[in-house]
Amino acid sequence: MNFFEKEKWLTLSKKRRWFLLRKEYQKLADNLSDEALWTSLNNKVLALQNDFDRHSTRLLSLHNILVKKKNTAQLNILILFLDRLLEHSPMESDFLITQQDRSTKSETLFPLIVVLENIRSAFNVGTILRTADCLNLKEIHFVGYTPTPDHPQVMKTSLGAQDSVVWHHFDTLSDSIAVLKSHQVMTVALETAKNSLSLREFQWSQPTALILGNERFGLNESSLEQCDQVITIPTYGIKNSLNVGHAFAIAGYELQRQWELSIE
Ligand SMILES: C[S@@+](CC[C@H](N)C(=O)[O-])C[C@H]1O[C@@H](n2cnc3c(N)ncnc32)[C@H](O)[C@@H]1O
Repeated sequence: MNFFEKEKWLTLSKKRRWFLLRKEYQKLADNLSDEALWTSLNNKVLALQNDFDRHSTRLLSLHNILVKKKNTAQLNILILFLDRLLEHSPMESDFLITQQDRSTKSETLFPLIVVLENIRSAFNVGTILRTADCLNLKEIHFVGYTPTPDHPQVMKTSLGAQDSVVWHHFDTLSDSIAVLKSHQVMTVALETAKNSLSLREFQWSQPTALILGNERFGLNESSLEQCDQVITIPTYGIKNSLNVGHAFAIAGYELQRQWELSIE
């Protein structure tokens, strides 16, 4: 950066500089060994050292750590810092290190089926798909108006997991339950209902379907009546329910732990 370029850089507003730096750091995320980008970023960040405000000082220090570490984790910290300064909500996908994903999965499927009845949010469905892939579970039933894995918002949140899980769509919960029963699958509603069993007391005994309900209304009486069992995740604060995606992750991993113990 020559004298004139440096002067021009320093005449920009702080917000504009943060914006341009964020853009360059984002480019660096695609190629951490781009020497021209490193040189440009070094020049731009070092030029800020006479600013003496706390944001520039912090930026400089984060940049110096990045120069030493040259890794994605530190780069993400820097990008998040700039996002906060720019008041952007970072996209979840900005932080995913997808290179560490596997191209194949274990052939031993966890014999759990998750049934999603009238889930409204594509974001929640994407989250559930991702957890379902991590659990390597058998399949997912999408019931009613629950957005299916071909929905663009679902694809965005599940980050590829939508292609790894077997799924079917059913118009009603009864249709899904009829198929499950014909395959001797136990149907368990996950709901904050009275007289339900605590997740901690439930004992895995056979292939099971976990039925989850709508974010606002949960599963209604008639849906609960169709299930063999109702289980609840105990809560101890002022809220009695969790986000549906979180509830699934907690219950899914607990059931997987129990299943693994049962086959040992
Ligand atoms: C946010 S909840 C629905 C609202 C909930 N029925 C209520 O009003 O308290 C959405 C779904 O998440 C699951 N869920 C959330 N928290 C739960 C908990 N503590 N125990 C069991 N299921 C839960 C259930 O499947 C529920 O249908």
